[in-house]
Amino acid sequence: MTALTLLAYISAALLLQLAAGIGLAVWRRRRGGVGVAPPPPPPSVDLAWPGWREFRVVRREFEDPDHSQCSFYLEPLDGSPLPPFLPGQFLTFAVATEDGQGSPLVRCYSLSEPPNPKHYRITVKRALAPANRPELPAGKVSNHLHDLVQPGDVLQVKAPAGRFVLDPAPDAPVVLLAGGIGITPLLCMLRWCLAEQPGRSVHLYYGVRSAQERAFGELLAELARTHPTFHLHVVCSSPASDDRDCRHVGYIDVPLLRQTLPAGRHQFYVCGPTPMMESLVPALADWGVPIQDIHFEAFGPASIRLDDTEGTDDQAAANAHFEVAFRRSGRTLVWDGRDASLLDFAERHGIPVESGCRSGSCGSCETALIEGTVGYAHTPDHPIAAGHCLLCVGTPRSRLVLDA
Ligand code: FES
Repeated sequence: MTALTLLAYISAALLLQLAAGIGLAVWRRRRGGVGVAPPPPPPSVDLAWPGWREFRVVRREFEDPDHSQCSFYLEPLDGSPLPPFLPGQFLTFAVATEDGQGSPLVRCYSLSEPPNPKHYRITVKRALAPANRPELPAGKVSNHLHDLVQPGDVLQVKAPAGRFVLDPAPDAPVVLLAGGIGITPLLCMLRWCLAEQPGRSVHLYYGVRSAQERAFGELLAELARTHPTFHLHVVCSSPASDDRDCRHVGYIDVPLLRQTLPAGRHQFYVCGPTPMMESLVPALADWGVPIQDIHFEAFGPASIRLDDTEGTDDQAAANAHFEVAFRRSGRTLVWDGRDASLLDFAERHGIPVESGCRSGSCGSCETALIEGTVGYAHTPDHPIAAGHCLLCVGTPRSRLVLDA
């Protein structure tokens, strides 16, 4: 074989390979394989701006007939687009007190609307002193926002955070269980689902005293009318005699869910006041709902232990008995594993401590740890300064001395 013939063979082989490659690519493209855009990835969020950012209130609007629940629309002062967030997350605010004395108070409020690059929306309930405990103070920050914050005012805001978020996997119907203002993160999840996963069933149980107390009444009724996959259950504990909007009388509980939910696996998301959380969350587990399908967030002190750490070193350590000394309060108490966190423990014993998110994200419960070791079931989102601990997600691993 001459060199010329060999060259001719090699060229022919290369041409054949090229033609075969083009043919294969065309065939794959036509059958929908390579070359077709892959399905969109699950929502991933580039959350952070570090620290505080200034936002202007551009609009405020009451969401209930009693004007006790007010939405605030917030645009960033720097005008740059807002990062997305996951449905269910919250914003952290530092609000200067009315008299300008002392440090600003830190509070967290759930985002009540799905992501929007121009503005965020939160909805805040005016927190009055409880009717049965009038001696307790009303909520300073919620009353400040309701009474004094108007369009044009500027607030200091931290980036969206929080782990109480909707699992976007579309294979299980969603059950949202809201008590009172616990509706806010669940409304965000609901609207995200209806927009992004219209084939997924969503059942919302909204517990209130009467229909008059409901927020977003018209919006929810309209969503239920226009989305066949959305099933709305307003559950009233003390309805007025002419309350037509209350579909059920009583409380959200397992018997009601058993009667009204179709059979099969569901993902449960629960947000509400302490008594509701402390009864409903364990009841779901007792009913047989797998722990990984129960997601919850309380907006007050609520000791809920749904550990899947049973029998592990972590649980054994959390259940051990340790002395905990609160140095500034001058109290030394014994941790016996009854509380879900040091924050719950301190509050149960009347030790004054700051808190916001109660989930390790905002940093407002960060406390100097003078002595001892604190453990965390999960690494908290908020970076903990050296020599400090986060009370809301921490439990003792030894005798502790805290600066509280
Ligand atoms: S209360 Fe937010 S980090 Fe503890």
